[in-house]
Amino acid sequence: LSSIMVDVSGIDEGTQLTVKWLGKPVFIRRRTEAEIEAGRADNDAALIDPLAQNPNIDPGAPATDENRSLAGPDGTNTGEWLVQIGVCTHLGCVPIGDGAGDYGGWFCPCHGSHYDTAGRIRRGPAPRNMDIPVASFVDESTLKLG
Ligand code: FES
Repeated sequence: LSSIMVDVSGIDEGTQLTVKWLGKPVFIRRRTEAEIEAGRADNDAALIDPLAQNPNIDPGAPATDENRSLAGPDGTNTGEWLVQIGVCTHLGCVPIGDGAGDYGGWFCPCHGSHYDTAGRIRRGPAPRNMDIPVASFVDESTLKLG
C-alpha cells in the first residue's frame, strides 16, 4: 500500500483540503464546533448506513460522529478532523462540500445524495457513508494517508 504525507498546517477551521491518493480525491476537513455538534446531535437518527466505515477503528462500529472523525496529533479525537475518500458511494461522482446539501455536509449532484457533517449518507441513492481511508497524524502538521 502506498502512503503519502500531507501538510495540513494550512487548513483553517471550517475549510478542507482535497488531495489525490491512489487516484481518488481525499477530503481532509477541519470541522467547526457547529459541524461537530450537528454531527453528534444526529447520532441517534435513522441512518441509511449505520456503520462507521472507518478502518482506523473498526469499519463495523456504529456510525456515530465520534467514530467517523480522526484522532488529532496528540491522539485525542476532538471531532475536529474528518478525513474521507471524496467519492460518492452511489456511482462514484465527487460530492460538493463546504456545507452543501440538506444536512450541511456534502452533496452529490449526479443523482442527489445528501451527506451530513460526518459524511454519513442521509438522503438519496447512495448506499454507504463516504469511506474513510487509513490515516493518522505523524506530527502536529502532517497527516499520513495509507
Ligand atoms: Fe452520487 Fe449518484 S453518483 S448520487
